[in-house]
Amino acid sequence: MKLCIIGTGYVGLVSGVCFSDLGNDVVCADNNTDKILNLKKGIIPIYEPGLSELVKKNCKAKRLSFTSNISEAIRESNIIFLCVGTPTKKNSNAADLSQIFIAAKEISRNIKSSKIIINKSTVPVTTCDQIEKIISKKVNKKLFSVVSNPEFLREGDAIRDFVYPDRIIVGTSEKKSNKILRSLYSPLISKGAKYINTSRRGAELIKYASNAFLATKISFINEIANLCEKTDVNIEDVSIGMGLDKRIGGRFLRAGPAYGGSCFPKDTRAIIDTANKFKTDLSIIKSVIKSNQNRSKLLLQRVSKILKNKIKNKKITFLGVTFKANTNDMRESSSLTMIPSLAKKGAIVKYYDPTGYKKEFEYQKNVTNSPNIKEACLDADLIIIHTEWNDFKSLNYNNLSNKKNFIIYDMRNILPYDKIKKGKLKYFSIGR
Ligand code: UDX
Repeated sequence: MKLCIIGTGYVGLVSGVCFSDLGNDVVCADNNTDKILNLKKGIIPIYEPGLSELVKKNCKAKRLSFTSNISEAIRESNIIFLCVGTPTKKNSNAADLSQIFIAAKEISRNIKSSKIIINKSTVPVTTCDQIEKIISKKVNKKLFSVVSNPEFLREGDAIRDFVYPDRIIVGTSEKKSNKILRSLYSPLISKGAKYINTSRRGAELIKYASNAFLATKISFINEIANLCEKTDVNIEDVSIGMGLDKRIGGRFLRAGPAYGGSCFPKDTRAIIDTANKFKTDLSIIKSVIKSNQNRSKLLLQRVSKILKNKIKNKKITFLGVTFKANTNDMRESSSLTMIPSLAKKGAIVKYYDPTGYKKEFEYQKNVTNSPNIKEACLDADLIIIHTEWNDFKSLNYNNLSNKKNFIIYDMRNILPYDKIKKGKLKYFSIGR
């Protein structure tokens, strides 16, 4: 079986590389010629631990190749994965499906033999029906089938999530496609992954419902953290105490800044848009979006309180600016709200991130990038631990700044609380 992956973004690249590592013959296609040229040279466009090594290994073994000739890649493959972006449309909550439809048309022009088209892009329920309609305008339905197979890869843990998934969801009512997909995933199933065959629409909705539920879990614990701060309760006790109930589960119960990234904000907006189209009120998810938008405002108010409302000319250092650790992704990171807001109020902001300089702050007055933690914190009045990189977990926090009475605001609760509380350091964290 030859696999073609259309779209070498996060999902496409990781899936393509991992499928080739399972022994399949994979071609990753993208219309971005620069990206393809770089990939051919082994230059990876994203920061994902372990990915670069796997690209090298599988290119060397001649199982993995890259091309900008999408038509040819489609013609030469039996299985085609759609992994293109579905960002939020401008001035709307809806997912922009233009890349999906362009790819579907490209596929329809290049089907000469039997093919399975598997959609991995996150799309609103009924999109695969539309893909099928587009292709069937040019191709006999007997020659192709469209399957939904959503991804559940977390940035920074994507390879691990691919190899050891909690579940593999395959949405199709066709026996033959289901058999082929099961066989494609058999190396993961034999290691314990659960394979679930659902309706195609069911698979599409499982993806959105999962992300919306995880976003709800995070917003829920963030709001409980607000109550903990008022009642002298430690949120970490609450998370552990709740999480041990198997009906609840401990994961995604870590309080912190507003959730961000390329999925949760976009997907919660898109499911609301879909529900509106089908005249359904998803009031809980609407509240989650509102709660998350409010989160950065709340944390900024707390910064203001910590600094006794004197933000002007205060030196504030951000340790970590990406939306989470082990990624260089800045999409919808809460630092994009917090840093400009503090700079506008007159703070002098420095930031250090293990993945380096961020163009997002390029034109921001009073915001500079530091090359290392030491320089970033040197004369800071306030150090904000924004992202939970391991690099920040074992800091010698007592001497981080040479300013007397400097303050640490640990937005990820990563420093040892009990130990710090016994010392003299001015330390604030989340939900305690
Ligand atoms: C997410 C989903 O987890 C993945 O299954 C999906 O397919 C793609 O979207 P990702 O966006 O890479 O993955 O990151 P994730 O680890 O889910 O974190 C998203 C946001 O939630 C981050 O801002 C993170 O800091 C935050 N988060 C996560 C918390 O604040 N608390 C938690 O307990 C977990």
